[in-house]
Amino acid sequence: MKKLLYLIMLSGLLPVSVHAQKIVINTNAAAIVYQPDANGHLQQIYLGKKLSDTAGYRNINAALNPAYATGGSTYLNEPALAVKHADGNMSLALVYMGSEVRHESSNVTITDIRLKDPAYPFYVTLHYRAFQSQNIIETWTSIQHTEKEDVILNRYASAFINITSQQNYLTHFYGEYNYEMQMHKFELPPGIFSIQSKLGVRTACNYNPSFLVSPNNDVTENTGEVFAGSLAYSGNFDIQFESLKLNIDMGNSLKIIPGINAYASSYPLKPKENFETPHFIFTYVTNGEGQVSRNFHNWAINYGIWNGHQKRQTLLNNWEATYFNFNQDTLVNLFDGAKKLGVDMFLLDDGWFANKYPRDNSRAGLGDWEANKKKLPDGIGYLVKEATAKGLNFGIWIEPEMVNPKSELYEKHPDWVLKAPNRPEHLYRTQLVLDLTNPGVQDFVFGVIDKLMKESPNISYMKWDCNRSMDNAYSPYLGKNQDAMYVRYTQGYYKVLDRVRAKYPKLDMMLCASGGGRVEYGALKYFQEFWPSDNTFPMDRIKIQWGYSYFYPALAICAHVTAAGSESLKYKLDVAMSCKLGFDVMVKKMTEREIDLSHTVTDNYKRLQNLINYGDLYRLVSPYKTNFASLMYVDSTKNKAIVFAYNLESLEADTYPELKMNGLDPNKKYKITEINLNTGAKPAFPENGQIFSGETLMEQGLKWYLKRARTSSVLELEAI
Ligand code: DGJ
Repeated sequence: MKKLLYLIMLSGLLPVSVHAQKIVINTNAAAIVYQPDANGHLQQIYLGKKLSDTAGYRNINAALNPAYATGGSTYLNEPALAVKHADGNMSLALVYMGSEVRHESSNVTITDIRLKDPAYPFYVTLHYRAFQSQNIIETWTSIQHTEKEDVILNRYASAFINITSQQNYLTHFYGEYNYEMQMHKFELPPGIFSIQSKLGVRTACNYNPSFLVSPNNDVTENTGEVFAGSLAYSGNFDIQFESLKLNIDMGNSLKIIPGINAYASSYPLKPKENFETPHFIFTYVTNGEGQVSRNFHNWAINYGIWNGHQKRQTLLNNWEATYFNFNQDTLVNLFDGAKKLGVDMFLLDDGWFANKYPRDNSRAGLGDWEANKKKLPDGIGYLVKEATAKGLNFGIWIEPEMVNPKSELYEKHPDWVLKAPNRPEHLYRTQLVLDLTNPGVQDFVFGVIDKLMKESPNISYMKWDCNRSMDNAYSPYLGKNQDAMYVRYTQGYYKVLDRVRAKYPKLDMMLCASGGGRVEYGALKYFQEFWPSDNTFPMDRIKIQWGYSYFYPALAICAHVTAAGSESLKYKLDVAMSCKLGFDVMVKKMTEREIDLSHTVTDNYKRLQNLINYGDLYRLVSPYKTNFASLMYVDSTKNKAIVFAYNLESLEADTYPELKMNGLDPNKKYKITEINLNTGAKPAFPENGQIFSGETLMEQGLKWYLKRARTSSVLELEAI
């Protein structure tokens, strides 16, 4: 072995001093540390709390913890990278070549670690962008080669994380249309567990690519060690958790391997081409799951989502109010409704377009993006003008990647759809997916937005929907080269979004895919908010919003008050106000009293929007563990806070929780005001109007006064 190392050094592949070199990637609170072993293979020697001194990071692992495990050589478990070299050799080895550090800003440091196959001109760079004050690390991998022909990438993960604790509990978020982001926690058994998607588009529909891992089952919101990550990718993903027990080389450890799903996705990498994997975003904390969320929210607002600091618009959407059944007059009437509610914008949903095959239901018209002349004789421009005249912004729905066979677009371009030869055309919601690998289709999709914006530059918002997954998927454009079709589709999607954002940076965009089917940070880079679910029943929404809150900030989670659910309007408003408030109602069917309350809550929301949007989230009582839910936001100065409390299907016999607050300054005094009350209604909390220290509110808390099922209260706290 020594001889081999000597030869490698002589060949100039390995700097002489590399063995001792530690590569420390840290934030203000956490660190991940690498060091090459005697063979030049890079090992992860530490992942945990940041230590005060680099010398403190020692390699105490008897077992191997590869920084980026490769397939076909000596690592015999699930690799991060597996390739076929141009000469057919299926093995890959990587040795450490060097690393560089750059400071992007005083808060952000980038570390690049270069690796190379000692026998082939095949290069890998591991990138780490560390956000100091957010305690977030974003990592991804670039792959290149100068071999004579293509190298086939059979598996190409974004990262490879070693967790050395002996037992690990995984929390992940599963779901389905209407039931997104349901939390599930269990102890990982030996073997491989994976959360993944093969849906092609709308890929987060069944699993969100986000998770938390903790060594103990008793982790709380405020205590306990947690590693949490989220993969930023809008295509097929795969996050594998390989739990090794009693493994001779590996000992007991957990390997987390997030990346593009290798299923049907061998990628032929051309010489000199650079393949960049999706980014994996993670945090490590020692003070519980609440801190995980605050780290992610802080990062998302500052770096992760589009225009994180731009004020979000409250809105009235017409989808659940009218579905496809509207005309120009109905809409203009709804503008008046929007004014009565006090919102900023009107959002026109599906059903406004197509003439030869009018979009009167989901069976026709998709792809023909001309205003329907019968419903809207004066076009979109007229609606924008009317809305503006009434002091409202105007938003519009599109679903530009899809087509109904009953459309002019399909008649003109039958070769523009993903459709496997020799298979029947398989429709879902009577539609097909356009072939975004095709640059002509990319131009078309970009053109949908561009044309609307050129014709009506005052459009201030677009809801970009996506209502099916791929099946029998085959790209006519790629022809025989289908191997990386799923990957190339997603690349096409990002290309279009890059163009949209370069040209329309100020346009607000809502990410929607039959609800939350596309919620992940690969897409949220381009969108400033998302539609979390078509399920707007408030009790279900409490749980869905709770799930999203682990990784996504409240300002991005659109929450609309609708007719769904028999709960009181107040309850619906209180649930929606804890995220980004909107409405999807027929205002003309509401009573004056209901309109009054809605307006009051909208005004309260706008007054407290900064607190709800940018405050620190503290989850207080979990709807997954009790028949109650409570959460609060505290602003950065700890002068303002807002507490939301909800009863679910609670019974008189239930044990009521304590409403112990969190995140306040123990030494400040806070005045409590119960808000969002119907005119003349009595506050549920007798503490209304009283003053308490932060210490009392956090240590002793308040009694839970809500007794009846499906009732709620919102408390505003102000330091005096
Ligand atoms: C699915 C979305 O989730 C709904 O909000 C609505 O926009 C419909 N599509 C329209 O077809």
